[in-house]
Amino acid sequence: MERLDKILASQGSYSRKDVKAIIKSGRVTVNGETVKNSSVKISENDVVTLDGTALTLKKHIYLMLNKPQGIVSASDSKTEKTVIDLVPDYLFRSGLFPAGRLDKDTVGFVLITDDGDFAHRILSPKNHVVKTYEARLESKLTEPQRAMLQKGIVLADGTTCKESRVKILENGDNPLVQIQICEGKYHQIKRMFAAAGNKVTYLKRTKMGNLSLDETLSFGECREITPQELSEIENGKFFSDFEQ
Ligand code: URA
Repeated sequence: MERLDKILASQGSYSRKDVKAIIKSGRVTVNGETVKNSSVKISENDVVTLDGTALTLKKHIYLMLNKPQGIVSASDSKTEKTVIDLVPDYLFRSGLFPAGRLDKDTVGFVLITDDGDFAHRILSPKNHVVKTYEARLESKLTEPQRAMLQKGIVLADGTTCKESRVKILENGDNPLVQIQICEGKYHQIKRMFAAAGNKVTYLKRTKMGNLSLDETLSFGECREITPQELSEIENGKFFSDFEQ
């Protein structure tokens, strides 16, 4: 149970002060009754409306975005368009941030939430939640390159990466490969392939944990992640006994 003003302030772009004034002016109903007292306690099962529109009362929100190229994975930027700018008004609330960054030119699955604990759980390498990417390479992936990447490659600056899983999806001079990692170092995948003597020319995140990017989302579109899907993310762990 939370106070009505606190809940309303957490749902959208209104401050707690604005929310108090809105409630006082009679624009809010709880279970069909106009409520003018900001301190009334509300549970997730109560139906709250603002100006006649029912609000979905959830403590936190979790969104899946299909990120296009050219957008930065930040909460705000004075100069560039961010992933948060792509969230439509009906899903927006204050405190949203991308849980894990993709480079400006990387596309695919970005999880946007206001739940810091959840983000920490899925991003901490200690929890081994797998992030799956598809990478187009500049040249053929040799077996020694694949073995180096899988074993845990050392980057040009001496940073050691944990083991990864690499699978060839399309063979050839510019192969398409799938790579799975459970870390999120800066430019990690591009730097891993560079350290192995290859080059990533296109990168897409296709999966977080066991949850795949919803391919019905066009670039720039997002939708809510269901509670079932959230557990699919957390259950997608990386084990060291994978096939080499
Ligand atoms: N690794 C990269 O190099 N870039 C990304 O955007 C994500 C992982």
